Amino acid sequence: MHDNGPTHRLSSPATVQSDPAGWFERLYADAERGEAVVPWDLDRAHSLFSEWTDRARPDGSGRRAVVVGCGFGRDAEHLARLGFATVAFDISPTAVRAARRRHPDSPVRYETADLLDPPADWLEGFDFVLESMNVQALPAELRQRAIPAVGRLVAPGGALLAIAVGRRDDEVVEGPPWPLTRAEVDAFAAGPLTPVRVEEIVVADGGIRWRAEFRRA
Ligand SMILES: C[S@@+](CC[C@H](N)C(=O)[O-])C[C@H]1O[C@@H](n2cnc3c(N)ncnc32)[C@H](O)[C@@H]1O
Repeated sequence: MHDNGPTHRLSSPATVQSDPAGWFERLYADAERGEAVVPWDLDRAHSLFSEWTDRARPDGSGRRAVVVGCGFGRDAEHLARLGFATVAFDISPTAVRAARRRHPDSPVRYETADLLDPPADWLEGFDFVLESMNVQALPAELRQRAIPAVGRLVAPGGALLAIAVGRRDDEVVEGPPWPLTRAEVDAFAAGPLTPVRVEEIVVADGGIRWRAEFRRA
């Protein structure tokens, strides 16, 4: 069974287009008051990520990882269990506070930060970077900046894993979310990153998911 993430309409296009960061913060704040449900609030790592770690068996000892758009920390906790020294960040301060509360004994460092303006010492700072189910929630203009920004976090010798809802080139979507085309997935291979494997996974409803691994020499 795949945990396919938010494929349904998250909100009106106008709201997310005009203020994506504010929209996420409001959703997390509403959820904290019990007035909304966060669709990706699951107490396990994303299935496409845990399947990948079961297969790849990455050894995190002595290695640094970062989780982009970590939400409540489901994937960050998984990485920490694999031994990575893990930083996990989200643009929503409410999500980050909730992640810290939910995992009080966690070794993960949860931080509020913007992928588009990360702390300088994070650039090229991580041996493993996970981007899962975030970029598809960003409108086109932000997405064009977000995709290369993810790659800039990868240290020499490091790897990036990107997981996203996908769409075929001829598929018209009225987001949000705006599933990624193959070309958008390939665009993660910016700068010194090269693709290792790009998987197109067909899920139960006939939709597709991308799981793409990139490496930096
Ligand atoms: C669809 S949710 C997915 C959350 C998480 N990756 C998961 O699968 O559980 C997208 C997340 O990206 C975060 N986000 C959006 N824009 C961001 C940005 N510029 N920098 C960091 N996080 C961002 C949102 O606050 C939200 O938590």
